[in-house]
Amino acid sequence: MRRTVVTMPGDGIGVPVLKEALRVLDAAGFEADYVHADIGWEFWKKEGNPLPQRTIDILEKHKIALFGAITSKPKDKANEALDPSLRDKGLVYFSPIVSMRQHFNLDICTRPCKAFAGNPLNFIRRGSGDTIEEPLVDAVIFRQNTEGLYGGVEWTNPPDVVYNALNTHVKFSKNFGDVPREDLAVSTRIFSRKACQRILRAAFEYAKKFDYKSVTICEKPNVIRETSGMMREEGRKMVKEYDGIDLWETNIDAQMMWLTKNPEDYGVLVSGNMFGDIVSDGFAGLTGGLGFACSANIGDEVAVFEPTHGSAPKYADYEVSIVNPIAMFLSACMMLDHIGEVEKAAKIRKAIETVISEGKVRTYDMKKMRGTADVINHGAASTTQMTDAVIEAMGR
Ligand code: NAI
Ligand code: MG
Repeated sequence: MRRTVVTMPGDGIGVPVLKEALRVLDAAGFEADYVHADIGWEFWKKEGNPLPQRTIDILEKHKIALFGAITSKPKDKANEALDPSLRDKGLVYFSPIVSMRQHFNLDICTRPCKAFAGNPLNFIRRGSGDTIEEPLVDAVIFRQNTEGLYGGVEWTNPPDVVYNALNTHVKFSKNFGDVPREDLAVSTRIFSRKACQRILRAAFEYAKKFDYKSVTICEKPNVIRETSGMMREEGRKMVKEYDGIDLWETNIDAQMMWLTKNPEDYGVLVSGNMFGDIVSDGFAGLTGGLGFACSANIGDEVAVFEPTHGSAPKYADYEVSIVNPIAMFLSACMMLDHIGEVEKAAKIRKAIETVISEGKVRTYDMKKMRGTADVINHGAASTTQMTDAVIEAMGR
């Protein structure tokens, strides 16, 4: 069956990695019509909207999308970048990815962090005596993707109703009561029970399907009692439905320390929005870093697949792109899995595995080089050469 897939390359290196991913999909025999959609900084500058309505319409229509990366900048920089005709009209920059996740309720974010054998970027640690250990990290993070600290409910100099409401909390009146209002910045961390249940359900179902023995809730309920507490409470209820899966509970700070002690002990992890962002980057660092970190943002209707890296502006204008496209390829594999094309996904992953273990073709990050335009002249593969290698391995 021929599919329609929306492609949103976005900014910077999102463009070359997405382009190469389509070649890989094609070589794997995936047949699709690709519909381009605009997103990112260019459209903020030109139109004052980094996620134009036409893009929302396209996503609504076709449901499945591949996304590269976008550039985001802080408020003041965003204002300066606006086309002069759009300035001072009250337009406020808001990350189009966050907007997209909220608009389509893409509340389930999955970020697998699996080490490939032979990847020189894999985490190693000192074992007993003089031994070096390279644990096989295989962790899959489920991040609540729409709420919490990234929910966007925030104020500097909060309005009366908000200020007065906050003042009804004794901790607020006691600790912040005499701070001038214009010196107060408030970002909320709101969790809803339904969203907690949905992310937990997705995590447990994944653990069951792929035979992981544990689901770890990584939060901080001892301090953030209400929100982290709700996630924990729901997790403790849900685990009872899953024979053979243990519920582990860790605090985000301790978890970041344990990452470098016993990362191989963790299977599926589940967190709220910001902690999920943090812990997934932590695990990604053990399995190759940004060049390998893939993700899926899944809602009831729409699903968007993207590498977790950004637009890496410093490499964006290189004549020959040097960045590692594997994170994008693995994101495309997640898309294939999602729509039931599991064999094609497996084929691509197998080819990636082969290229990595053979070690002949490596991008600059895998060679531990500093990224500059001339890494190509020093043995690093370009984005296109890495793509060619994966396609070649698939054809063997
Ligand atoms: P970044 O992920 O773009 O780059 C950080 C560094 O990681 C790069 O300088 C490069 O050394 C390395 N890197 C990233 N992707 C790589 C790849 N595929 N292969 C090899 N090396 C790679 O993050 P940064 O520099 O913090 O942000 C740049 C822009 O991207 C900002 O405007 C930021 O807001 C945006 N961003 C967008 C994201 C998205 O679209 N999902 C996520 C993160 C940042
Ligand atoms: Mg992140």
